[in-house]
Amino acid sequence: MKKIKTLKCISCGKEHSLDEVKYVCSACGGNLEVIYDYNLIKKRFTQDELKENSYLDMWRYADILPVDDLKDVSPLRIGYTPLYRNKRLADEIGVGEIYIKDDTTNPSSSFKDRASAVVVKRLLETYDDDKRIIATASTGNAASSLSCISASLGIKNIIFVPETAPIPKITQLLVFGANVIMVKGSYDDAFDLCVKACDEFGWYNRNTGYNPFTREGKKTAAFEICEQLEWEVPDKVFVPVGDGNIISGIWKGFLEFKKIGFIDKLPKLVAVQSENSNAVYNAFIKNTTTIEPVSGETICDSISVKIPRDGLAALIALKESGGFAVNVSDKEVLVAVKEFASKTGVFAEPSAAAVYAGLKKAVNEDKVDRGDSVLLLITGSGLKDIDSARKAISKAYRIEPDMNELKKIISSILNRGH
Ligand SMILES: Cc1ncc(COP(=O)(O)O)c(C=O)c1O
Ligand SMILES: [Zn+2]
Repeated sequence: MKKIKTLKCISCGKEHSLDEVKYVCSACGGNLEVIYDYNLIKKRFTQDELKENSYLDMWRYADILPVDDLKDVSPLRIGYTPLYRNKRLADEIGVGEIYIKDDTTNPSSSFKDRASAVVVKRLLETYDDDKRIIATASTGNAASSLSCISASLGIKNIIFVPETAPIPKITQLLVFGANVIMVKGSYDDAFDLCVKACDEFGWYNRNTGYNPFTREGKKTAAFEICEQLEWEVPDKVFVPVGDGNIISGIWKGFLEFKKIGFIDKLPKLVAVQSENSNAVYNAFIKNTTTIEPVSGETICDSISVKIPRDGLAALIALKESGGFAVNVSDKEVLVAVKEFASKTGVFAEPSAAAVYAGLKKAVNEDKVDRGDSVLLLITGSGLKDIDSARKAISKAYRIEPDMNELKKIISSILNRGH
């Protein structure tokens, strides 16, 4: 593929050709980054061309994605998700602007569809028909997105999840026809088993922080933010962080649009992690690139990770952007699920609502300026984890179908907020 120059290791810098390596650095096992020939891309990919582009999904950026063409891409609408401005919430929280990038609207209801779409297209471009089996380990969303997109194209997929993954996510997998292997262990155990299985059986491995093309799909959210804000960027972008692949993907997107001259300024990225699943946070605070394992125990199942698989890339994104990391507790997240949904109309799963909890904390700690514009990346739908949401809500009124009964509770309804 002419537009890709090299796959460069983010740890040791070794460069590889596309044919030389599939997943990680041949010298040190580090994660690889796709480097394009940006001068070539600049020639045909312009802001004017984008204005005329009729694809209202992530494929509008195909010129800067690792795909030869758009033949056989999933027919599902992935990406180009809504970006909402919520001035009321911004005033209440005490910041200049709040933008919400609502990736719950993707086909499988999470951000991960962006990555799965690109990796599945890579499978179609590089594997013969009879060898097309794709596998992934996942805390839930990468899996349900891979199964969803595979279902749209009739591709066999094999999914490794920790047995503790929420029932709605497992149900999604089974509904999409995935072969689901529930591993009696953590996400990290599922990850390692998936790597071994792919090596043994020749399946294509979509694992996050292992397959270099997941980041390529994820960067499209940054492209959309630039386009939807008419080539401005927010001052700060709050991103929920588990493995660190989303935040590093987002950063790559902003960097690439700056490189090809579409934007002048870059945002600061803020990594939001859960208190017991905060390996990136700890390393950032200690100013080290050595990432120590943590317990990973949190209700935020999608960002529950002992050892982040793309932790170094996440740290680089934080450092280069001049951003910072925030830790939130499960309690703060549960409050955030309810509060965010009731103030914005966007129902986020705990891992995604964590960014709202993180914003409130960062504002309290004076890490966000009062005039800042802030974007919250909402990566997964609250319907994926109803049990957690139920812990944060009040009870419904229960009455006989009778006006007098209704009148008894009306005053309490009128005295509540909206
Ligand atoms: C809803 C949601 N938010 C955030 C993340 C974290 O992404 P990453 O593991 O790339 O840091 C995930 C990953 O599974 C997710 O599903
Ligand atoms: Zn290396």
